Amino acid sequence: MDAVVQTNEQLFEILITGILTQGYAYADDFLNHTEVQAILEASSRSFEQGGFSIAGIGKKQHYQLNQNIRGDHIQWLDHHNPPLACLPFFDRLQEMIRYFNRNLYLGLRDMELHFAVYPEGTFYKRHLDVFQHTRARKISVICYLNFDWVPEDGGQLRIYLPQEDGTEQQVDLLPLAGRLVCFNSQSLEHEVLPARRRRYSITGWLKDEQPLFTPPLPGSY
Ligand code: OGA
Ligand code: MN
Repeated sequence: MDAVVQTNEQLFEILITGILTQGYAYADDFLNHTEVQAILEASSRSFEQGGFSIAGIGKKQHYQLNQNIRGDHIQWLDHHNPPLACLPFFDRLQEMIRYFNRNLYLGLRDMELHFAVYPEGTFYKRHLDVFQHTRARKISVICYLNFDWVPEDGGQLRIYLPQEDGTEQQVDLLPLAGRLVCFNSQSLEHEVLPARRRRYSITGWLKDEQPLFTPPLPGSY
């Protein structure tokens, strides 16, 4: 059987529909394996060389480290000057922002992105990606970089979906190489279950404000 070839526009349309109807969506093969391999190498090299910091929670004066809440290490990326390996990913995200703006009128104007590494045994407890001072975050995007990840490796992204009858539904997604998940940053709570092997991702937020002049603190949320 012929492989189904999907254009970027079809891909973005699937993501938009998911976000509008259920608050989240995901696409496998957002990146192909060659692209993932290159980003994974760049991220793991930088991690080994000490380029990451332990992630915290809150911004600026609200910033704190708390490894009972999250145990990942992160490295912020400059999207005006991304690591070479990340260019295909950044380009596709820019295209996605243009498509979302044309079709969803979200007014997305900026993004912030970081590499994330969850060492074995770490997690990120249930949370929302916006606080009062980070209202600009509209859509969270996470692309995973882990080959041969199986359910026994843990590290699922668990999304909590409020239902109309007041109950809550959970969706668990494995952090599979090339998979992109995006969801409404303002409304959907989620967590990362404990990872039983080192878990790599590139995580970001599409925002509706111009960049702030102050860069985020090293390692800050
Ligand atoms: C985050 C987050 C989820 C994931 O960094 O805020 O929720 O699957 N990450 O890595
Ligand atoms: Mn989050």
